Amino acid sequence: MNLKATDVHIYSFPLHCSEALGQQLAALLSTDEQQRAAKFVFEKDRRKFIIGRGRLRQILGNYLGLPPENISFEYGAHGKPTLADVASGLKFNLSHSHELAALAVSIHEVGIDIEWCRPMDNMKSVAEKVYNDSELSLLFDSSPDKRIELFYKFWTCKEAFIKLTGEGFSRDPQTIQLPTAEICSADWIPAKCEEIQEEVMLKEFKTVDGYKGAVAVAESKARVYTFGLGDSE
Ligand SMILES: CC(C)(COP(=O)(O)OP(=O)(O)OC[C@H]1O[C@@H](n2cnc3c(N)ncnc32)[C@H](O)[C@@H]1OP(=O)(O)O)[C@@H](O)C(=O)NCCC(=O)NCCS
Repeated sequence: MNLKATDVHIYSFPLHCSEALGQQLAALLSTDEQQRAAKFVFEKDRRKFIIGRGRLRQILGNYLGLPPENISFEYGAHGKPTLADVASGLKFNLSHSHELAALAVSIHEVGIDIEWCRPMDNMKSVAEKVYNDSELSLLFDSSPDKRIELFYKFWTCKEAFIKLTGEGFSRDPQTIQLPTAEICSADWIPAKCEEIQEEVMLKEFKTVDGYKGAVAVAESKARVYTFGLGDSE
């Protein structure tokens, strides 16, 4: 697979498949991934993990020219998986929500988040924990329909940011400043965070209806290309 220096490739794929394909994907997992899969209490969570990791291995294998089962991962302080073979220069990040996953691949550090957009009874209290004053004003000055859309847009942008840095929720999401003037209109949204020097660019990407997705990339000239994978591909 050809990846140019400014490219960010995004794959969306379902987290369900036939039993036969599920077995093929499970066979691609490393011993530690199989051990992790075995620990899930609920079968549906095991299935989603296996499909996510299996697909991740297949897609990365296409870029690396390697059999999927030969790929090795390492993990950051907060669990971010990266390729053990740093010489390849390939970076990736995976996200899942409900029955859909999204994977970003680039030569730049990336973070991705996808969310299934369901109405929330406790939206106000969650928003007050993760958004700052200007973000909250924009959210609660909006109509109810627009509010749900903006809630998930802000959420996916902030989570993509903390997944790019690898900090996860060890970083308080309120420390990330989304430019409210640009968030509704700009294609790429520059995000700021006091102690992080590099510029992080955020972009919403198109995916399956009912879901929202955002990608964060440390490259101001990035171009996003989206791909979909069906159940049986
Ligand atoms: C990273 C985090 C934001 C992901 O939340 P989530 O709701 O599971 O979100 P997503 O589905 O978008 O992402 C999960 C995927 O991101 C990747 N991931 C895991 N940890 C990550 C991190 N710190 N940064 C970026 N990506 C990470 C993995 O590929 C994971 O899926 P997989 O394990 O099935 O392969 C959240 O799990 C978190 O904050 N973890 C931090 C935990 C931590 O700090 N613990 C304290 C130290 S032990």
